[in-house]
Amino acid sequence: MTTTFLSSGDLIVDRRAHYAQMLAEAGEFSSAADLMEQALSDAPGWAGGWMMTGNFHLKADVLSSAIAAWQRAAEHDPSGVLGAQMHLAAHGIGEIEPQAQAAYVEALFDQYAGHFEEALLQKLDYVVPGRLAELLGDAMGELGIEGFARGVDLGCGTGLMGERLRHVVSHLIGVDISAAMVTETRGKAIYDGVEHAELLDFLGAEGCVADIVTAADVFMYCPALPPIFSLVGKVLRPGGIFAFSVERHDGQDSQWLQASLRFAHNGDAIRAALSDAGLEVLRVSAETIRRDRGQPVAGLLFIARRPEGVDGLEVSDIDIGTEVPFALMN
Ligand SMILES: C[S@@+](CC[C@H](N)C(=O)[O-])C[C@H]1O[C@@H](n2cnc3c(N)ncnc32)[C@H](O)[C@@H]1O
Repeated sequence: MTTTFLSSGDLIVDRRAHYAQMLAEAGEFSSAADLMEQALSDAPGWAGGWMMTGNFHLKADVLSSAIAAWQRAAEHDPSGVLGAQMHLAAHGIGEIEPQAQAAYVEALFDQYAGHFEEALLQKLDYVVPGRLAELLGDAMGELGIEGFARGVDLGCGTGLMGERLRHVVSHLIGVDISAAMVTETRGKAIYDGVEHAELLDFLGAEGCVADIVTAADVFMYCPALPPIFSLVGKVLRPGGIFAFSVERHDGQDSQWLQASLRFAHNGDAIRAALSDAGLEVLRVSAETIRRDRGQPVAGLLFIARRPEGVDGLEVSDIDIGTEVPFALMN
């Protein structure tokens, strides 16, 4: 008997799960959850089945039962690939281990790779690459920058940001944690290379340098931004540009894991972390970045820069102060 995420390894249990799925599709979430609970008594180690059960309970508005089911799923999925730990953390239970977070994100985007662009552009009104490119163009005009020798597009996905950068970057590398995204994007002639890597590993590698680093719609999958900014501050050559988006969070905490399992980040905390990393903010724009279940998602787009070095001084030694030269908060 082999248990996988999709199958319990027991034909009868799988049939009952299939029937539960049909009940859920008909809006009968409570009955679907009950049927799953009964079925799982014959397959208690099936993590995928516990995830289905948790999601049905959530939709039936029985949070305590959803939490109990996600806890069973987490017990039987130590890799975290199914996202049970993420659901629990979003409800204030436990911490997310970085490896579980990475496994979840990689599996999520492996699944999406084939229909990603269609979903984002046609159904979700996704605007980040275009808007970041516009803000970048404005900042380049103001600074008199005509182009960049080396660029890195973090979380490149299928290359929507890369397409917008290509004409101003001589050597452009895409980086993505999802193997399926990387395969999809290597087949296109957008990047000079597409690396399969976690972005911190890529930025932290010996010899990584860039004149521009971008991350369009990526940091909502990253809990803590300061370690990323600190590496970007080291990787960028003096005068280099960092352009990125976040989902916006106006609460006290620097980040918030939402029920969508994406992180939203606080603008003030971002400014502070950029400053700590030796990066100055050139532009900030608050806008709707896409839709989620019909609702607009509030985002912030940032263009930051590693200041030109002063001879004999490391940029990290220069106090760039709290003044924001060109900040435009819409
Ligand atoms: C919403 S997509 C955006 C893709 C692309 N930047 C765009 O604008 O169309 C997020 C991408 O970031 C990648 N990603 C998320 N977390 C990552 C990480 N820690 N390291 C590298 N890639 C990551 C995902 O695999 C996915 O392809």
